[in-house]
Amino acid sequence: MPIKNVRLEVMHFLEQNIDGFINQYLIPVEKIWQPTDFLPNSQEDTFLEDVRELRELAKELPYDFWVVLVGDTITEEALPTYESWLMEVEGIDNVDGESRNGWSKWIRHWTGEENRHGDLLNKYLYLSGRVNMKEVERTTQYLINDGFDIGTGRDPYKNFIYTSFQELATFVSHNGIAELAKKSGNEKLTRICKRIAGDEMRHHHAYSEFVSRIFEVDPSEMMLAFSYMMKQKIVMPAHFLRESGQKISSAFEQFSNSAQRIGVYTTSDYIDIMQKLIEKWKIDKVSNLTDEAERARDYLMKLPARMAKISERLIIPPEPYIFKWVVPATK
Ligand SMILES: [Fe+2]
Ligand SMILES: [Fe+2]
Repeated sequence: MPIKNVRLEVMHFLEQNIDGFINQYLIPVEKIWQPTDFLPNSQEDTFLEDVRELRELAKELPYDFWVVLVGDTITEEALPTYESWLMEVEGIDNVDGESRNGWSKWIRHWTGEENRHGDLLNKYLYLSGRVNMKEVERTTQYLINDGFDIGTGRDPYKNFIYTSFQELATFVSHNGIAELAKKSGNEKLTRICKRIAGDEMRHHHAYSEFVSRIFEVDPSEMMLAFSYMMKQKIVMPAHFLRESGQKISSAFEQFSNSAQRIGVYTTSDYIDIMQKLIEKWKIDKVSNLTDEAERARDYLMKLPARMAKISERLIIPPEPYIFKWVVPATK
């Protein structure tokens, strides 16, 4: 008798509600915002004046801010990597014909929404005059060439843990950038980053709902997948980041130090996200667990406090690393 593939069965079970998920968590094309809604309109006579104003306001923001905005943009621009990765996940079938299932529809629609993020940020950066776009473009191409390895394999459970975490992490980062832009009086950039953050939150709700549903039908395996992903730590999608002419080395770390220095995505944000997921999925109350899954639950429940203790020892260098992407302002 063939061994039953429970994950495939669970994915098939969830797939029956794909249109419901799309209606609930994604927004139809005609209703959702588009990048041009937040950028100077090149068909208007006021275009050049609007661009001048955008550039003036951009002068107010500090070095680390631009590094983080560039890193966030490149992360969004590497979307082809994420789409192709997700299409390979077990239970998601994008082959033509009858076997092309509802999950691939979800992935395409999610990609369609995500694609607007890189589009908008890229155009904003180009107009801002604060960054070396050619270097940004080169890093983006490198990142797509290099791909990523997020340690999930093709396992849908691990991938949904990853996306639940990652969408919330990008919310935190875009929202943090928005807050800093607001403090410097840059309303337009604030609105840009807030709107993107809003999308990320919706996506987070979707992926974490998929996980909630899996907890209902396959609790032990879902628990093991969650603890596996937390044990090996969530690797950020841009962890292979590199500058032109360089090998993959410390660029991601330098970018993440910039984010820590300006407080938009820190180790304590990482721990908060973990804690939020533990609460959202009511990890303390999940029942019908195997002994192994019980141990995984214990591990998860103690992890945030343990990580908080370790993170106290973390030291962030006070000065920014100078990237080719951002030329320091000479005032
Ligand atoms: Fe995004
Ligand atoms: Fe996202």
